[in-house]
Amino acid sequence: MTRLLARLDEDPIVRAQLRELAARTKMERYGKGVFLRGLIEFSSICRQDCMYCGLRASNKQADRYRLKPEEILACCAEGYELGYRTFVLQSGEDTWFTTARLTKLIREIKSRFADVAVTLSIGERDDETYELLYEAGADRFLLRHETASPRLYAKLHPTMTIESRRSRLLALQRIGFQIGAGCMVGLPGQTNSELANDLVYLHSLSPDMIGIGPFLPHSNTPLRDASQGSMEKALDMISLSRLVVPDALIPASTAMGTIHPQGREKALQAGANVVMPNLSPLAVRPKYAIYENKICLGDESAQCRHCLELRIRGAGFEVDMGRGDSLKAQRQF
Ligand code: 5AD
Ligand code: FES
Repeated sequence: MTRLLARLDEDPIVRAQLRELAARTKMERYGKGVFLRGLIEFSSICRQDCMYCGLRASNKQADRYRLKPEEILACCAEGYELGYRTFVLQSGEDTWFTTARLTKLIREIKSRFADVAVTLSIGERDDETYELLYEAGADRFLLRHETASPRLYAKLHPTMTIESRRSRLLALQRIGFQIGAGCMVGLPGQTNSELANDLVYLHSLSPDMIGIGPFLPHSNTPLRDASQGSMEKALDMISLSRLVVPDALIPASTAMGTIHPQGREKALQAGANVVMPNLSPLAVRPKYAIYENKICLGDESAQCRHCLELRIRGAGFEVDMGRGDSLKAQRQF
């Protein structure tokens, strides 16, 4: 795998063949449909200190916000009207959102919007909390493994351990969540052999969802001077993830759209099949700056929905507004 990753950088024909094979695999499993998820970034407050992330606790320049539960529900109502049937609730590791507050919110969403799936992306919590969130009705949980390299993980996460990350992912999976893992591509000093390890990690975990995007430096972090990841390499990793976990849901991430104007379309053509437009209130969007120059900061949710439909169709696919459970989960229902 390490050698293949090196070869892809040198040989555009092999690269094109890989993308083609990944696109075909996606078509066989999921068809032409691309699932849309409404993303609600509900708090930018974070107790962790990841070296790459603009929301790290040490970044005192960050303008922080926390939406009230009623505001989050209003975003869901707007999203529901626009046709979304999955809400992704994402935040920094904000302890104001206790287990009790989160379960109350999840119950409220599930009772107001009976046919939606709720995905959480809120970082590491203990087993008991995860169990209560699942009991309250949360269906899915995104927790990228970030990197499967012990060396890189330790360097980039002064407040977390690679063992704990893995244990949280396994706990979520055991409890019954559809889980999402994934990594960044082009982290400072990241080698092909480390990226190969990410694929081995993904294969053995077999998550329902895989989030992959290029590393993008943020000027208020210690990695401000590092160079950004390569889009082509991120696309290679998307294609290879499609091949090692063919049933996975793979988003064309916002980071892909940020690094290149057609990055998300290219990701869809390389094997991705999910897009997550932003439903957060316009006033807070610029504040959720995990990296800089993030796209879609000024567009109303309705405009984003329209823009994305055009992009998805333009890339040769169709919009699917269903809940979009993973094939693995569908087999277990
Ligand atoms: N560049 C690219 N991706 C980033 N993430 C966080 N910071 C950055 C950055 N500077 C990714 C992490 C995280 C996800 C929400 O965003 O992988 O899990
Ligand atoms: Fe938000 Fe295009 S996806 S404006």
